Amino acid sequence: MAQQRLRTQVGIVGAGPAGLILSHLLHLQGIDSIVIESHSRQHVETRIRAGVLEQGTVDLLNEAGVGDRMRREGLVHHGIELRFNGCGHRIDMYELTGGRAITVYAQHEIVKDLIAARLESGGQIFFEAGQAAIHDFDGESPRITFRHAGEEYEIACDFIGGCDGFHGVCRDAIPGEALRFYEKVYPFGWLGILAEAAPASRELIYSNHQRGFALMSMRTPQISRVYLQCRPDEEIAAWPDERIWEELQRRFEMSGGFRLNEGPILQKGVTAMRSFVAEPMQFGRLFLAGDAAHIVPPTGAKGLNLAAADVRILSHAIARWYGSGDMELMARYSEICLRRVWRAQHFSWWMTSMLHRFEGGDGFEYRRQLAELDHVTTSRAAATSLAENYTGLPFDLPGERL
Ligand code: FAD
Ligand code: PHB
Repeated sequence: MAQQRLRTQVGIVGAGPAGLILSHLLHLQGIDSIVIESHSRQHVETRIRAGVLEQGTVDLLNEAGVGDRMRREGLVHHGIELRFNGCGHRIDMYELTGGRAITVYAQHEIVKDLIAARLESGGQIFFEAGQAAIHDFDGESPRITFRHAGEEYEIACDFIGGCDGFHGVCRDAIPGEALRFYEKVYPFGWLGILAEAAPASRELIYSNHQRGFALMSMRTPQISRVYLQCRPDEEIAAWPDERIWEELQRRFEMSGGFRLNEGPILQKGVTAMRSFVAEPMQFGRLFLAGDAAHIVPPTGAKGLNLAAADVRILSHAIARWYGSGDMELMARYSEICLRRVWRAQHFSWWMTSMLHRFEGGDGFEYRRQLAELDHVTTSRAAATSLAENYTGLPFDLPGERL
């Protein structure tokens, strides 16, 4: 069978937030790219994932001209609630950070907005691309091969964006001795539901409860997104809707009384939790970005935001190379990204450790958590630290020189 040969400047594997934002930012700087994605367009546009955007991510999407619907439909939040020992405590992030906020806007809506923008400006995305493989990225002429609609394809390019998530092929294509992995697997997961029920509170509630952690989030004023800590290998079949609601009501209980609004459950699933970093994030002309390079437990709401921060740096580095042949930023890509990645790793681990129930303790862990929550909710310095991390580090960290 004849192979279809294509040529572009940057070949991108993965049409998640990392791959699509990268493709769009490159386009804005006059650089061509082709994206290949193993799933269908419908699948990636409806896959329920993240919901919380840092101020910097919101600014990036707005500046890139893909923020119209996010500005109209996104919910801007100035605070979050930490709930423990039957009481709620609000962290006023807006006031503590001098005006920074988060926006609740679903990841798959960002994906929809970006796909529409790419296709409108003539961008090429191959959905349902099978058997993707990357080649020759240790030299000057990398290639991507894949199958699509029964045909074999090859893309010749100058650089490859490895944006194919944690289970993708790009990271594994790097020789093992060139990478170092750091990993921490948590002894629990999250059971998440999307429900047709008005959120019971205007802001997110992170609840530490002796039966386990629970989080109330939302997607719209009519749709709740709620999570509860469970076993990492929890069988979803063991959780009929009534059991989920009953357990959630207990984990959000308050001395003054509190009920979540219940409604039909539209979707449910279990996610295991891990912290993971692959270093460095570059090998030759292959650049890993987003979940392909690092995973954080979702308690800090950082995964999507890190993916956006990575590709922002990468798009600048690539544009500089094409503009002036300047390699410096490209050579520093990994180091610059990893600084933010490790800050987010620390914050996500800290939030996770403070809020989840750990098995097997004699109660020491729980009492320690209560002391820490007491500190975070009564010390302005401690609350400010949480607020700064949650709303997001500034995009240009000192010394980054973009
Ligand atoms: P992905 O979104 O995984 O995209 C990778 C893409 O590559 C996928 O479309 C995949 O199909 C494709 N692909 C994979 N392999 C191949 C292949 N071989 N060939 C072609 N294509 C391939 N983050 C936040 O910032 N805030 C939150 O509130 C938040 N909440 C979360 C809640 C949950 C329950 C979960 C699971 C995650 C959450 N995250 C959150 C994390 C966030 O969803 C991820 O960090 C984000 O999706 C990373 O984007 P990405 O583009 O790097 O990877
Ligand atoms: C979500 O809305 O999906 C969400 C919110 C906050 C988190 C994680 C997920 O920490």
